[in-house]
Amino acid sequence: MSSINYGEKIPNNVDLATDRTLQRALEHWQPQFLQWWGEMGPSDFQQNDVYLRTAVSVDADGWAQYGAVKMPDYRWGIFLADAAANRSIGFGDAMGQPVWQQVPGEYRSTLRRLIVTQGDTEPASVEQQRLLGHSCPSLYDLRNLFQINVEEGRHLWAMVYLLHAYFGRDGREEAEELLARHSGDTDKPRILTTFNEPISDWLSLFCFTYFTDRDGKYQLKSFAESAFDPLSRTCRFMLTEEAHHMFVGETGLSRVVKRTLEVMKELGSDDSSKVRAHGAVDLPLLQKYLNFWCSSSLDLFGSEISSNSAANFASGLKGRPDESQYEDHVLREKNLKLTTPEGEQDVPMLNALNEVMRESYLKDCEIGLKRWNRSIERAGHAFRLALPSSRFRRSIGAWANQPVTPEGGMISREEYDRSLAQWIPSDADRAFVHSLMQRVVEPGKMAGWIAPPERGINNLPVEYEYVKLH
Ligand SMILES: [Fe+2]
Ligand SMILES: [Fe+2]
Repeated sequence: MSSINYGEKIPNNVDLATDRTLQRALEHWQPQFLQWWGEMGPSDFQQNDVYLRTAVSVDADGWAQYGAVKMPDYRWGIFLADAAANRSIGFGDAMGQPVWQQVPGEYRSTLRRLIVTQGDTEPASVEQQRLLGHSCPSLYDLRNLFQINVEEGRHLWAMVYLLHAYFGRDGREEAEELLARHSGDTDKPRILTTFNEPISDWLSLFCFTYFTDRDGKYQLKSFAESAFDPLSRTCRFMLTEEAHHMFVGETGLSRVVKRTLEVMKELGSDDSSKVRAHGAVDLPLLQKYLNFWCSSSLDLFGSEISSNSAANFASGLKGRPDESQYEDHVLREKNLKLTTPEGEQDVPMLNALNEVMRESYLKDCEIGLKRWNRSIERAGHAFRLALPSSRFRRSIGAWANQPVTPEGGMISREEYDRSLAQWIPSDADRAFVHSLMQRVVEPGKMAGWIAPPERGINNLPVEYEYVKLH
């Protein structure tokens, strides 16, 4: 099963040719997808050769092939991880029973909604990032942006396959809607708020890939546990692609920190205005971007107390990321202490799973910050980057619209409103970051606000011409 058939119109490893009806339906959707890519995908660069990786198998190692591809010719397709033999449900009330190869009737609408919500984020991020190519800091970065974009397009295919294959006519209609909603559209926006935020500069892109793609990783990990086996297998393969997106975020922000420290050393000063005058991102400004994108991404996990999360877990639809690392997989007997603005509450663990997920996500987010802070410390500076409190600037859940500082303290509404511009990017901050976004496309050259990467793609040198512009 693991080899991918590229001989067909839609590359796949699901024996698509044996189901003519499904194949026809997806072949009908394919030109609509390509039209969407043409209109809403990366602006320009569609006729340039880009050094892209394409999936050639679903084996954990060595699944990708690299080469020059024009983006519209990218072979988007349907790739599922191999089925695990005799897989049984790993959590919830049906734990130990065989996994499902079809959708049980009673969970049909819930599963469809979960798949549509996940599927909606994939094309949304392509739309959010469509203008960034024009201000790329290097050809290396431009290539990484396009790699992410084509893979988010493939993730849309992954969800659309499930909708077409398992949800009949409703699924086909949802697949069309996934191309009809657009990021930031006033009439038909994307489903989740974070995916309607514009990403118009590369600092935001690196924050988005660090924080928001990491939320994606956690969502995919929880679906990888699902009792609905086709969803689990789809998400397991998506996770291998997703890793690169977070790599772009983590190394991108590392390179920003590195460059800023170089500039501070040259200047012999950590004065923000001097760092800015020298064309670099001062560390307090980076902190504001971290505050903005981290808090925005935290909302994606949903309310602290949620009956939906309880039902989805109990019925086997959605587990916890890395479910096997926990001892109790049923959770009928457990409680969790949650602090809400009303005080401490003892909540059944099943209803607190969004919070459990959010906490493990934040631990994962800490890893990069520790690394960046080590390099700041080594350079002899007292400044430290920090993640904002999970209560800061929330718009969903128990802490929604509460006047809370990035450190988590409750303050007066007036003080909060007065201080917010010191905590997240102000208009002036954004204008400054935009002023840095000068396009650099000479092979091997980098914009002045970011250090070069430690190595190139697939063992090629950093100076390789990753996107051929001529
Ligand atoms: Fe994705
Ligand atoms: Fe992603």
